Amino acid sequence: MEEKQPVLELQNVSVSYDSPAGMVHAVNDVSLKIYENTIVGLIGESGSGKSTLGNAIMRLLKNNAVLTSGTIKVMGKDVYSMHKNDLRKFRWSQMSMVFQSAMNALNPVLTVEEQILDVFLSHDKSMSKMEAKKRALELMDIVSIDPKHLKSYPHELSGGMRQRVVIAIAIALDPKLVIMDEPTTALDVVVQRSILDKIKEIQRVKKYAILFISHDFSLVSELSSKVAIMYAGRFIEVTDSKSLEQPERHHPYTQGLLKAIPQLTAEDVTIEGIAGNPPNLVDLPSGCAYHPRCPAAYDLCKKVRPEIRYVDGRAIECHLYDTVQSEV
Ligand SMILES: Nc1ncnc2c1ncn2[C@@H]1O[C@H](COP(=O)(O)OP(=O)(O)OP(=O)(O)O)[C@@H](O)[C@H]1O
Ligand SMILES: [Mg+2]
Repeated sequence: MEEKQPVLELQNVSVSYDSPAGMVHAVNDVSLKIYENTIVGLIGESGSGKSTLGNAIMRLLKNNAVLTSGTIKVMGKDVYSMHKNDLRKFRWSQMSMVFQSAMNALNPVLTVEEQILDVFLSHDKSMSKMEAKKRALELMDIVSIDPKHLKSYPHELSGGMRQRVVIAIAIALDPKLVIMDEPTTALDVVVQRSILDKIKEIQRVKKYAILFISHDFSLVSELSSKVAIMYAGRFIEVTDSKSLEQPERHHPYTQGLLKAIPQLTAEDVTIEGIAGNPPNLVDLPSGCAYHPRCPAAYDLCKKVRPEIRYVDGRAIECHLYDTVQSEV
């Protein structure tokens, strides 16, 4: 049987920033496929390369960043070999992104309606203003904002409502892939819950492929069926969320992150953070980048970078799994 086409396909993607201190190796050799109607979580500590990867997929990298290797395909199209004009049409209509802190970056001098109309009218020159206004109303309904707020300016809205507007803009043209970079991080717990429920509902109806970026493991595992765990720009593990219920089966870094989640049901509530700091991405540690912090590290980990091993459908880069038969 022919394999279904992934909505997003990353193959050996690396991205570096040119900085005064040297090349910052922000994303290192990551591969991933996301199919329609699926949410994949991307998790990692601050500075691990999550936003850089999201921006790279959108081909919206900063001027000092370069895709140094790999291919990024969305709906089978190589994003980096696309002509600029085609890319302009492709972006937002096929792939879109809710940028980190975007709710604070809405244009302060335009109303919500003006910002939404702009998305419709700039992408479809043949669309009438009437039609665009009708579509804007429909969008308000999808993200559950009272239509009266179409006439509001961003500063007149609460954080939760601004985030709903940002999500509305991202899904306005009904893209196949939506990247959400920390969409709820700046919101209080109650608002965060309502936004998450809204994302789940939209996903159920629209069958989007969503890459959900967060540093909150409990949130990601609740929302997504698969999770990619990033450390120093690498996917040190890609696993189904279900298996996270058994921490002992995972990469030591994943285990460390899992231990850092407060367990409300546990009798003995001890939260252990991971000792040490993330590595310097200009001068990565030898061998496995996690070895200086890893409680299970041994000699080999300092010298040789682990290959990907496939264990029960999980992809793990860790020498502890070296004896496990690797399958492609
Ligand atoms: N414009 C830039 N120039 C140089 N280095 C950069 C630039 N932007 C990001 N970096 C570096 O790239 C690395 C990855 O950054 P990135 O923003 O992708 O991390 P992140 O995982 O999204 O972090 P956070 O959870 O804090 O959002 C960091 O070390 C960061 O300092
Ligand atoms: Mg980020």
